[in-house]
Amino acid sequence: MIESLLRTLGLAEAEGGACGAGWIGSPGGEEVASINPATGREIARVRMGSAADYERVAGESRAAFEAWRRVPAPGRGEVVRQLGLALRARKRELGLLVSLEAGKIRSEGEGEVQEMIDMCDFAVGLSRQLHGLTIASERPRHRMIEQWHPLGPVGIITAFNFPVAVWAWNAALAAVCGDSMLWKPSLETPLTAVAVQKIAHEVALAHGCPGVFALCAGGPEIGRGLAVDARFPLISATGSCRMGREVGQAVAARLGRSLLELGGNNAAIVAEKADLDLALRAVTFAAVGTAGQRCTTLRRLILHESIADAFLGKLTRAYASITIGDPAEDGVLMGPLINEAAVDAMIRALESAEAQGGTILRGGRRLDRPGYFVEPTIVRADPSMPIVAEETFAPILYVMTYRDLDEAIAIQNGVEQGLSSAIFTDGLIEAERFLSAEGSDCGIANVNLGTSGAEIGGAFGGEKATGGGREAGSDAWKSYMRRQTCTVNGGRDLPLAQGVEFEMGMG
Ligand code: UN1
Repeated sequence: MIESLLRTLGLAEAEGGACGAGWIGSPGGEEVASINPATGREIARVRMGSAADYERVAGESRAAFEAWRRVPAPGRGEVVRQLGLALRARKRELGLLVSLEAGKIRSEGEGEVQEMIDMCDFAVGLSRQLHGLTIASERPRHRMIEQWHPLGPVGIITAFNFPVAVWAWNAALAAVCGDSMLWKPSLETPLTAVAVQKIAHEVALAHGCPGVFALCAGGPEIGRGLAVDARFPLISATGSCRMGREVGQAVAARLGRSLLELGGNNAAIVAEKADLDLALRAVTFAAVGTAGQRCTTLRRLILHESIADAFLGKLTRAYASITIGDPAEDGVLMGPLINEAAVDAMIRALESAEAQGGTILRGGRRLDRPGYFVEPTIVRADPSMPIVAEETFAPILYVMTYRDLDEAIAIQNGVEQGLSSAIFTDGLIEAERFLSAEGSDCGIANVNLGTSGAEIGGAFGGEKATGGGREAGSDAWKSYMRRQTCTVNGGRDLPLAQGVEFEMGMG
């Protein structure tokens, strides 16, 4: 199966991971194995870009920008439309590769490719709507406008858990905005990145704009190189808060722009007036889906004390029905963690939880089989336990109880991250309070649905230690352009703003 999949996607057993205006081959680059986390076995190998490869790719990316910014935006949209069509044609195969390399179940692997396609469609529409404003001038015969210009090459750093969709959030927008881009994918998922780059590069070549989509696979040194590289006015980075602090500070030191989408420690409140069956389905998907490895994964469940026991009974039964196994197989709902380190981190977090007074209600163990499989785990916890404030990238759900909504909202907001949140209630007053300025402090706040699985049409991202960036829909495109305020004097006088007078003799 793997051989024919690789063949269909045009992938060899050993691939170069650097491509600017053309593939470089990275002859001297260190080979990194792409590992299937369901078996621990190698799928293929990717050669990382060396420092010299990075230099070349970055230079070609910059050069591609100089030409790309001259292409009218709807023309750039046409290239993104072609990219969307090429992805549609490869949806099944690319989705399967995501399953194999990132350990997602088939439907989520294909869903991720769908997210890329949706992003392309969205960006194509946008390519005719990169509107500026006309602004009323206070001066006679003056006119003010705001216009948006391409910004420059964008550095895109992505994480293993959405190995291709997050690239597309950035890439589709950057491309229609007139920016070229250089992608540094996760070391855990270099092969899907090469597969997507092949598709994007082919589309770019066919449209005479090679180098608009560039790739340089590599370790943290490539990310650091991008962060300090002034040729890249914007660095968009997705990953841990630790990585974001490093990248954000390095970009800030050169006064560049960064767009950070970092960790989440997402909570859901299940109120007394909630539809418990609906909440049960939503909570289970949000906590267990993608084996707890989404930045939007539900990590903290805050139950009203009146329904807590009943709900927990249902939840532990629902957890028992989750089929864990090879994500490429039908019927499986939960695949493996990404690697051994992720399993260790989960086990360590559970040890801390117990040491801090938590009780494991269900799960807690590694499965005795090859690969990196664990049981989805429910821990009875107290909001004051330090481990509850940490984002462990694993299917651990900390459960707490509350008496009144203000207390629940305080618990929900009481962590450093601020990505996603949810309330389950049939009560309008409660729902509105949750969505108000005094409610959830997150970038995403949902009513009667879980914390994960956002649509691309909305702006995606969060506050506080989540980094503040917004990607994907709404007006997130504005981050990828530079805003220019233009005032035009259509008269022969020179009135000054704020009524300032400056009468001078004309000599
Ligand atoms: C992430 O985990 O980095 O809302 C992104 C969701 C997905 C994106 C998650 N659409 O769960």
